[in-house]
Amino acid sequence: MTTSPDQPDSRPSTPGAPAGPAEPAHEARRISRRAVLGMAGVGLAGAGLAGGFLAGSAAASARDTAPSAGPAEGDGAFAFLGEHQAGITTPVQDSLHFATWDVTTQDRDEVVALLRAWTLAASRMTQGLPAGEFGPMSGPYDAPPDDTGEAEGLPASGLTITFGFGPSFFTAADGSARFGLDGRKPDLLADLPHFPGDMLEDARCGGDLAVQACANDPQVAVHAIRNLARIAFGTASVRWSQLGYGRTSSTTTAQPTPRNLFGFKDGTANITSEESSAIDEHVWVAPGDGADWLAGGSYLVARRIRMTIETWDRAPLREQETIVGRTKGSGAPLSGGEERTEPDFEAAGRGGVPLIDPASHVRLAHPTSNGGARMLRRGYNYTDGSDGLGRLDAGLFFLAYVRDPATQYVPMQNALAKHDLMSEYLRHTGSGIWAVPRGVAEGAMLGGDQGAFVGQELFA
Ligand code: HEM
Repeated sequence: MTTSPDQPDSRPSTPGAPAGPAEPAHEARRISRRAVLGMAGVGLAGAGLAGGFLAGSAAASARDTAPSAGPAEGDGAFAFLGEHQAGITTPVQDSLHFATWDVTTQDRDEVVALLRAWTLAASRMTQGLPAGEFGPMSGPYDAPPDDTGEAEGLPASGLTITFGFGPSFFTAADGSARFGLDGRKPDLLADLPHFPGDMLEDARCGGDLAVQACANDPQVAVHAIRNLARIAFGTASVRWSQLGYGRTSSTTTAQPTPRNLFGFKDGTANITSEESSAIDEHVWVAPGDGADWLAGGSYLVARRIRMTIETWDRAPLREQETIVGRTKGSGAPLSGGEERTEPDFEAAGRGGVPLIDPASHVRLAHPTSNGGARMLRRGYNYTDGSDGLGRLDAGLFFLAYVRDPATQYVPMQNALAKHDLMSEYLRHTGSGIWAVPRGVAEGAMLGGDQGAFVGQELFA
């Protein structure tokens, strides 16, 4: 039996109950959802869904179920539409689900259809709506629901969904161009080189497509990735994914600096969204940088960095601070001052010994050691159980956005891998690089066969 999506079949309200007309509450929910969609247009264009942060109650009311109790901080919605994709300069949320996909189809039209469907679903989920029009408990009774349901009743939770294209998306293993994208791969979108000490696991590396889902509720982030994977079924399959918690950076001066699993403040010297000229200089790809379709976008580097925390925990405090170059308490540089005081790498103590060790992490990662290069870090802690030898498989899932990976990431990682005192406690086990296109413009219509989608300029 076929059922029109607009006229769902009658169904029992509970499994095993006799079939009958849809229950009134169910109809009320459908009407409420339609009202929301009617207000927002097919693609949620307008209706305040672009260009700002909706208060928790506003976002929750967009969902067709009762909002969760209390307007907890961080419940609200970030705009999905805009000049840049959300999830880069957006204030870093508490939880991450990051995933990459390998595209399994050869058909360019199917890839475009996937990107269209993903864009529409992402625009909805980031506003606290189900991934699909009907949601988990409505729609045709004999078809799988168009949302998996575990985020039902939860607010938008600050969800952002950020999409990127990896080098392998453009080029097949035999070197031929995929999906008719000859000449479209930016020169800077090159696989990262092997760095000294890399212990990369193939199953945690690369991927044609990457999605970073960040939210203030882990269930909301996982729900987003799960629904994108569901939508991609038959077109792209998940290659690997990573959960993260407890952000290891700040992207606004209003956010307190969090701590990583070494117990140190992390993100002190990060680029913040308030530094608009630094963002333009170090994060956004500019017209003329080499790939016009990527202007307004960025490059994302991901590294899964396992930390040998049991060994670290036996290192004296003096050694820990020497390695980082900052105090464990306030995060101030060892040359003195407070957390935000600029490190003074010339300052010396007794016998002319530098107060900040030249091989400390902060000295080697500082712009003065890297030709002025900076990056926008957006990483998370992770703990993936233990390794069977009594050690936690824990560390930092490093995420950084840069305008030019060849000058901003590769030389710094090389220097850190070779000289950083911290390297002894780190094992890089996963890696990838993706080109992250600009955002879908405010006012764009989404959905259908003609809707706008993330990365559309690439296929133009
Ligand atoms: C598990 C691995 C890592 C840990 C635990 C770690 C920890 C830290 C800490 C505690 C700071 C000082 C506070 C701050 O300014 O944020 C810092 C700064 C920094 N780190 Fe890392 N980091 C790691 C990996 C990396 C990697 C792989 C890179 C890049 C290749 C990197 C780049 C930076 C940069 C650019 C700074 C700011 C330096 C400055 O301007 O003063 N870090 N990191």
